[in-house]
Amino acid sequence: MIEILVGSQMGAAEYVAEQVAETLVQAGYEATLHLQPDLDQLNPTHVWLVITSTYGAGDLPDNIQPFADQLAQDRRDLTTLSFAVITLGDSSYDTFCQAGRTLSELLQQRGAKPLLANLEIDVLIADLPEDQALVWLPELINTIKKGE
Ligand SMILES: Cc1cc2nc3c(=O)[nH]c(=O)nc-3n(C[C@H](O)[C@H](O)[C@H](O)COP(=O)(O)O)c2cc1C
Repeated sequence: MIEILVGSQMGAAEYVAEQVAETLVQAGYEATLHLQPDLDQLNPTHVWLVITSTYGAGDLPDNIQPFADQLAQDRRDLTTLSFAVITLGDSSYDTFCQAGRTLSELLQQRGAKPLLANLEIDVLIADLPEDQALVWLPELINTIKKGE
């Protein structure tokens, strides 16, 4: 079971998340999209895949900021949790893909383990960010399989 946590201001990361979810389902996984991720409703024995864009000056999209606040304030133990992060960003910003790095750090502070290095997609170069995500996805699937 894979919980997909979406952070998206204008819809690009959400579209990537929909494509990734579809591909994971085709690969035989159950995947649930969370457009308003809530720590209390996510099962830490499942794999969490965060797919987010970056806004402001390295800020999180509005819809995923409350989840980051929950993670920062909450003392709960997430040592059973494995996660991965796909970030969309624009390399003309100094804070390229900072939102995904911030979420990855917050999860690791709670004891969660990253399955892979964050995938950072530069929308300045990638015409279709979902294509880069789908090329990377088999690496994630293989890593999950090894842990099963
Ligand atoms: C106002 C604004 C601020 C942005 N700030 C950043 C930033 O700090 N770092 C970054 O890597 N990308 C930044 N971006 C680029 C977005 O992350 C990128 O366009 C992304 O594809 C938007 O995805 P979304 O439609 O899911 O929100 C910014 C874009 C806008 C419009």
